Amino acid sequence: MDFSRLPRHIAVIMDGNGRWAKARGLPRTAGHAAGAETFRTIATYCREIGIEYLTVYAFSTENWKRPAQEVSAIMGLLKKYLLEAVRDMEKEKVRFVFFGDLTPLPPELRELCRAVQRDSAGFEGCQVNICINYGGRDELVRAAQIFAAECAAGKREPEELTEKALSGYLWSTGLPDPELVIRPGGEKRISNFLLWQSAYSEFYFADVNWPDFSKEELRRAIAAYQSRSRRFGGI
Ligand code: FPP
Repeated sequence: MDFSRLPRHIAVIMDGNGRWAKARGLPRTAGHAAGAETFRTIATYCREIGIEYLTVYAFSTENWKRPAQEVSAIMGLLKKYLLEAVRDMEKEKVRFVFFGDLTPLPPELRELCRAVQRDSAGFEGCQVNICINYGGRDELVRAAQIFAAECAAGKREPEELTEKALSGYLWSTGLPDPELVIRPGGEKRISNFLLWQSAYSEFYFADVNWPDFSKEELRRAIAAYQSRSRRFGGI
């Protein structure tokens, strides 16, 4: 891995927690707990090596279909993680941003997310975007609705909707697109993650489950990205 050519923005689909747990005869929730620790390790490492933005898929708009007990375990882990992030905020200097509509979350978690985003807004370390109740299609529908409402109110004209303008209505407004999207767990699909933003991302699929993903795996993913020729439709 070449430290002088790091991607500015890395996105991760943290997949395989359930299978990791099953392989060990543990409940799925133990896999999510191990996954939360991996997230901590990877986020810290990204900050240390100078990655500017890390976006992780913690809970999708489709994950509500899971058994209530698993949903509530993931919400509990998020709360635990964020409380620890509050404790370590001054030391870590990570800026947290949440992508997704937080309205349906348990009220305590929702307020915690808002407080963490507000209180970390001034930090200049890595920006960590945590996607909760996030879906790429949902994000685009919301953007279309907001723009349509602005048109109906006479504030905007339909032809003003350029690619740049539409980007401004997404949760990721103002951020560079991820150069690298990593999916551990062996599956090779996008699962409704950053559909707009990943138009020209390089994908890296790792066979290890997320709880086994390590700094070394991340370096391998970055090295693979650095070895690719990115043409953005040109030659
Ligand atoms: C996908 O694995 C993982 C999730 C749906 C939840 C991810 C949540 C965490 C890592 C914990 C909390 C997050 C943070 C940011 C502290 P899966 O359950 O689909 O695994 P499987 O495909 O093996 O069943």
